[in-house]
Amino acid sequence: MILVTGGAGYIGSHAVLELLLAGHDVLVLDNLCNSSRIALQRVEQLAGRTLHFVKGDIRRRAQLDALFAQYPIEAVLHFAGLKAVGESVRHPLNYYDNNVGGSLTLCQAMADAGVFRLVFSSSATVYGTPATVPINEQAATGLPTNPYGQSKLMVENLLRDLANADPRWSIALLRYFNPIGAHESGLIGEDPCGIPNNLLPYITQVAIGRLEQLNVYGADYPTPDGTGIRDYIHVVDLAKGHLLALEKLRQVKGAHIWNLGTGQGHSVLELIRVFEEITQTRLPYRLAPRREGDIAACWADPTKAERELGWKAERGLTAMIADAWRWQVQNPSGYRVTDRVKESIKRIPASPISGNIQREAVMTRTGTSSANALL
Ligand code: NAD
Ligand code: UFG
Repeated sequence: MILVTGGAGYIGSHAVLELLLAGHDVLVLDNLCNSSRIALQRVEQLAGRTLHFVKGDIRRRAQLDALFAQYPIEAVLHFAGLKAVGESVRHPLNYYDNNVGGSLTLCQAMADAGVFRLVFSSSATVYGTPATVPINEQAATGLPTNPYGQSKLMVENLLRDLANADPRWSIALLRYFNPIGAHESGLIGEDPCGIPNNLLPYITQVAIGRLEQLNVYGADYPTPDGTGIRDYIHVVDLAKGHLLALEKLRQVKGAHIWNLGTGQGHSVLELIRVFEEITQTRLPYRLAPRREGDIAACWADPTKAERELGWKAERGLTAMIADAWRWQVQNPSGYRVTDRVKESIKRIPASPISGNIQREAVMTRTGTSSANALL
C-alpha cells in the first residue's frame, strides 16, 4: 500500500488515480486545508476502485504512528504542504511549520515504522534565477526569494542529509516545473482558493467571467515577445512520473533528483494565443509591470528523467490548455458547488422520508442537479 500525503490536492489526486489504475492500494492522508473530499470520490469513480482516506495532518506524530501500525505501507508519496508564494511571505511560520516541520515529522514516523521509500514534491523554484536554460539537475540551487521556496530547499537538504546518514533510505526529489491541465475526463483538476496566483487558472477564470481581465506581468523581459517563459507540464504526465520514480526507488538507495518538465518553454502571450484558438474567444488582458520575484525564463532539461526513469512528457500545450478548459467549464466553481449542496443536505432534519427523496428536495431548492450523481 502507498501512503499519499496531500492526495486530495491538485497534483496528488491525479497521482492517486494513476496509482489506482496501476493496481496499487492507496491510503490518502490529507487535512483538506486546500482541497475537497469530492476530488477523491471522483478519482474512485474514474478508477472504478476504492481508496482509503484519513482526514489528518502530517504534523501529528501520533496519528502517523497509528497509520503506519494499521496499514501495510511500503512507500510514501509526499505532496502535503502549503504552496502559495505570496501567502508564504505574509505567514512564514505557517509555511515552515507545515512544509518543513510536517516533512520532518513524516520522516521520523517513517523511520520508526521501517518505511524508507519516499517521493518528495520539490519545485524548480529551488534553482532560483537560473544562470542558463535549459536547467539540468547539476545546476546550483539558488536563493529562493520567498519562504515557500526556502521551505522546499530546506526539505531537499534535510532529505539529502538523511539519505547520506542512513543507507536504508531511497528518496526521489522531483523538481516540478509548471504543472497545468487536468484529467481529460474534466472530473478532477485544479481548484484554487480565492483569486489564483498562477497563470492558467487565472486565464480560465477570466474566460468564464469570474475575473475581469488577465494582467500579463512584464512585457520587457529579454525573451522573443518580452513576456516570461516557463516549462508547462501536463499534470497527468507529472503524475505518471511519480509512479516511475516509485519503481526506480526499489532499485536505488540514496537521494536522487529528477526534473519533471517537458523541455519546452512557452511565453505568456503564447499561452493566451493557444487558449484563444482552442476556445475561439478573445481573452481580455493588459500588459502590466513585472511581478516581484519573477524570473524571465525557466525550462527544464528533462533528459535525466528520461534516461533513468524512462519518463517523458507526452502531452503538448494544446492538450494541457484544452483539458484545463474542459475542467473549468464542467466545474465553474471547482468542487465548491457540490460542497455547498452537501452541506445543505446535512442541515436537513432527520425525517421518515427516504434519503433519495430528501436529496431530490434539496436539488430542487438549490437548482443544482448535475452534482446529484456525485453525492
Ligand atoms: P494542493 O494545495 O492542491 O495540494 C496539497 C494538499 O496537501 C492539499 O490537499 C492540502 O489540503 C494538503 N495539506 C496541506 N498541509 C497539510 C498537512 N499539514 N497535513 C495533511 N495535508 C496537508 O497543491 P498541489 O499543487 O497539488 O501541490 C502538491 C505539492 O507539489 C506541494 O508540496 C507543492 O508545494 C508542490 N509543488 C506544486 C507546484 C504547483 O505549481 N502546483 C509546483 C511545484 C511543487
Ligand atoms: N503570469 C502573468 N499573470 C498572472 C500570473 C502569472 O503574467 O496573473 C506570468 C508570470 O509572470 C510568469 C508566468 O505567467 O511569467 C507563470 O507564472 P505562474 O505564477 O503560473 O508560475 P511561476 O513560474 O511563477 O511559479 C510556479 C509555481 C511555484 C513553483 C514554480 C516552479 O507557482 O510554486 O512554478 O515550479 F515554484
